[in-house]
Amino acid sequence: MNKGFSSEWLEELKQKNDIVTVASKYINLAKKGRTWWACCPFHFEKTPSFAINEVEQYYHCFGCGASGDVINFVEKYDSLDFYDACKKLAEYAGMELPEYQLDENLMKTKKKRERVYQVLIDTARFYYSNLKTNEATPALEYLAKRKLDMATVKEFGLGYSTGWNELIVHLKKLGYTDEEMLDAGVAERNDYGKLFDCFGKRLCFPIFNLYGNIVGFSARVLEKTDFAKYKNTAQTIVFDKSKCIYGINQLKKLKNSENINEIVIVEGQMDVISLFKSGVKNAVACMGTALTIHHAKALKRFADKVILCFDGDSAGKKATLRSIEILVSAGISVYVVSIPNGNDPDEYVNTYGKDAWDKLLKGALYWVEFLIKDFASGYNFDRVEEKNKFIGDALNVVKTLPTQSEQELYLKMIQDMTGITITVLKRDLQEKSDTNIVQDDIVKIEDNHINLKENAYVKAVKFIISALLHKKDYATLNEKIRENLLNSDYIKIYDYVKSQVDIGKVPIVSKLFDMFDVEGSKDIYDIVNYVFPVGEDNEKYYNDCVNSIVKSGLANEKARLLETLNQTKDPTERSRIYAELHKIMQKEKNK
Ligand code: UTP
Ligand code: MN
Repeated sequence: MNKGFSSEWLEELKQKNDIVTVASKYINLAKKGRTWWACCPFHFEKTPSFAINEVEQYYHCFGCGASGDVINFVEKYDSLDFYDACKKLAEYAGMELPEYQLDENLMKTKKKRERVYQVLIDTARFYYSNLKTNEATPALEYLAKRKLDMATVKEFGLGYSTGWNELIVHLKKLGYTDEEMLDAGVAERNDYGKLFDCFGKRLCFPIFNLYGNIVGFSARVLEKTDFAKYKNTAQTIVFDKSKCIYGINQLKKLKNSENINEIVIVEGQMDVISLFKSGVKNAVACMGTALTIHHAKALKRFADKVILCFDGDSAGKKATLRSIEILVSAGISVYVVSIPNGNDPDEYVNTYGKDAWDKLLKGALYWVEFLIKDFASGYNFDRVEEKNKFIGDALNVVKTLPTQSEQELYLKMIQDMTGITITVLKRDLQEKSDTNIVQDDIVKIEDNHINLKENAYVKAVKFIISALLHKKDYATLNEKIRENLLNSDYIKIYDYVKSQVDIGKVPIVSKLFDMFDVEGSKDIYDIVNYVFPVGEDNEKYYNDCVNSIVKSGLANEKARLLETLNQTKDPTERSRIYAELHKIMQKEKNK
C-alpha cells in the first residue's frame, strides 16, 4: 500500500511508539496474563473486551471487532487521517516527520477529493437553506404529506432544489469551478454546454459515509412525472453506489451510545428516515442497488445480526435471496421479515407505530427457516416428484450448516413438512456432503442450491498462514505451502514471514496493518485475530492442513489441465498436457 511514508520510517515510528504506552494516554488499561484489557473506546460497553497484545503490537476488540496497530488506534480515537495520526505519533516519539511522498497523482487525487467534499457540503447547505425561502412551499407541503417534521429534516440534512440554475450561481459565487461541480456530481452540462443542477425541483437527501462526509445525493420528484422517481448521484471520485449505505453515519452514532444487537436492512431511504423518526434507529438501506460484499463487511463492524426487510414483490424477493447469500458468507446471522399487506416499512411504522414494528421484527425467521418455507411454497406436495425436488433443495441448505445439532433441527422441520423420517433424510444429506469438491469461497443460490460453507481448503490455508504469522513452533516454512496458496494476499503474508525468518528476525502481527486494510477484509482479519484451539493437537492439524492444501492444489491443477485438454486439438500440445496430467497423478498417488 502506498501510504506516503517509507515502510522503514513507519516501522521505526511504530517501534518508538509502544502501543500500550500510547493507548494508556487515552484509556485505562489493566494487565491480566500477557494481555492488556480495557473497555473499548470504539463501542459502548461496561465490561472490558478491548485487548492489546503487547508482543505483537496490535489491539483487538472482541466486542465490536475493531482491530489495528498503534497508528490506526490514534487515527480512530482522535478521528485523524493517516497522515495526521503519523504526525502526532512522530511528535510523541520526538521523530522528525519526513516529506509526505504520495506520488504526484495520488496527491492530486487527494486534493481533488477534498474539494469535492467541499462542493457537496456547500450544496447540501444550500438545499437546506432553500427550505426557509418563499419558494419552498411545494417541498414543505410534500414533507408534511410524508409526515416529516423539521427536526427529522435537520437530522438527515434534507433540502430542496428550487430550480436548475440557482445552485450553479451559488457555487460559482463561493469560488468553485465548473470542473469541480461536475466532479462532485451535482451539476451536468446541457446540449449547449451550460451547467445545470442535477437535482432541480427535487427533494434532496444527502448521503453520508461512515466518517460523516457527504458523498452524494438521492433526490425525489415531488409529483408524479415521466422522470425517474429518485435520481442519484452518478459515480464520482467519492461516490460509489455499490459501496455506500444510507444511514451508516446514524448507525455509527448509535453505536457510540449503546450496543447494537441487530441491524435492519430496508429498501429505501424514506424507510430509514420514517423508522428513525419513530424511534427505530438501527435501520439502513442500500441505495436502490443489490447488496454487495462491501456492504456486508461494513455492516459486520456494527453487528453480527441482520434482519432483511424488503418489499414483498418479486424484485424484493430476489433481493432477499441474493442478500442472504452474501451476508451469510460474510459470517452474519441473517433473519428475514415480511410486512403484511404489501406495505413498506415507511407506511407500516407511520400507520401502526413503533410497538407494532418491534413486534413484527420479533417474528423474523432465521434465514434457513425462511428459505425452506420459501422453497416449499413453490412446490405442490401432492405430487411425489415435486415433494422429492423440495427435499433435495431443502437439504442443499441444511448441508451448509456448520454443526450437526443445527442440521438436525432443520431436518426435523423437513420431516414434519414431508413425512420423510429424519433417519432417511440424514442418509441423503450424508450422500450430498460426500460430494464435496474444491472450489473458491464463492456463494451462489442456483436452482435452490446453496454453498455457504467456508470450504476445507480455505480453512486449512487460514490455519497455516495464521500459525506461521503467530510464530507457532510447529509451523515450519515449506515451499510446497507457497506453491499452493492460490491467493496473492496469502502469498504476501507467507513471503513476509519468510523474509523475516531469513534475516533471523521474528515476524510481527502488527505488520499486516501496513500491508492490508485488515478490517475491510474478512480473511486477513481472521488471520490477524486467529483463535488457536486450546488442548487440540495443533501440530498434527498443521501437518494435515499442509497435506490437504497440497492435495487441493493438485486437484485444482488437474481440473485446469483437463479443461485445457478439452479445448485443445493440437496433438503435440495434447501430449504435453497428458504428460503433465500423468505427473500430477503420480504425485497424488505418493501422497
Ligand atoms: P422505492 O420505490 O421502494 O422507494 O425504491 P420508496 O423508498 O418507497 O420511496 P417513496 O416512499 O415512494 O418515496 C427504493 C429505493 O430505490 C431507489 C431509491 O434509493 C429508493 O429509496 N430508487 C427508486 C432509485 O434509485 N430510483 C428510482 O427511480 C426509484
Ligand atoms: Mn415508500
